[in-house]
Amino acid sequence: KRIVVLISGNGSNLQALIDGVEAGNIPGKIVRVISSSEKAYGLERARNHGIATDVLTLAGVKRQGLSRDDYNLKLADLVRANEPDLVVLAGFMLILSPEFVDAFSRKLINLHPALPGDIEGAHAIDRAYEEFLAGKRDHTGVMVHHVVAQVDRGEPILSEKVMIQKGDTLEDLENRIHAVEHLLLPKAVTKLLESNL
Ligand code: GRF
Repeated sequence: KRIVVLISGNGSNLQALIDGVEAGNIPGKIVRVISSSEKAYGLERARNHGIATDVLTLAGVKRQGLSRDDYNLKLADLVRANEPDLVVLAGFMLILSPEFVDAFSRKLINLHPALPGDIEGAHAIDRAYEEFLAGKRDHTGVMVHHVVAQVDRGEPILSEKVMIQKGDTLEDLENRIHAVEHLLLPKAVTKLLESNL
């Protein structure tokens, strides 16, 4: 099964997928990593493991006088050229158009650091931590979900609750969430690849 991973930054979740594939735990191959930023450290992680990469930045597309819609079209072409069975958004920070989402529909999944229906959009960890400090919550979580046009709203594939503990710094919480992500994302990918995608 062919996996394409889209990233924007550090790529620690990409690394978890690379490790899962190399260990034989994920029944597939990462055929391409596509980044929305040329500075993403995840690109180096991919190259270190012999995985082909592409960079497509929104700024670059706009410099050519093109629009955000054109970005989505170009990205869709790049992804499609790799004939993926599964497309994983692993820390991909741009919101994709409904057309992009429709083009890949059930093959497109996203990782989000919050529980289903709880905290949507960017900075979900910071927002959970602020509410914890205000005494309004004692947990948050992680989910992997199918992608629909509404941000962070698609049907969950796997999710896991993460407790916030007394005395936690924001960094403690981030670390705990990332550790859960690194287990949950490979598990969700394996689950989907083993089902009849
Ligand atoms: C993760 O926390 C993910 O949930 C969020 O962006 C972060 C990406 O981290 N969407 P990394 O680039 O995989 O290290």
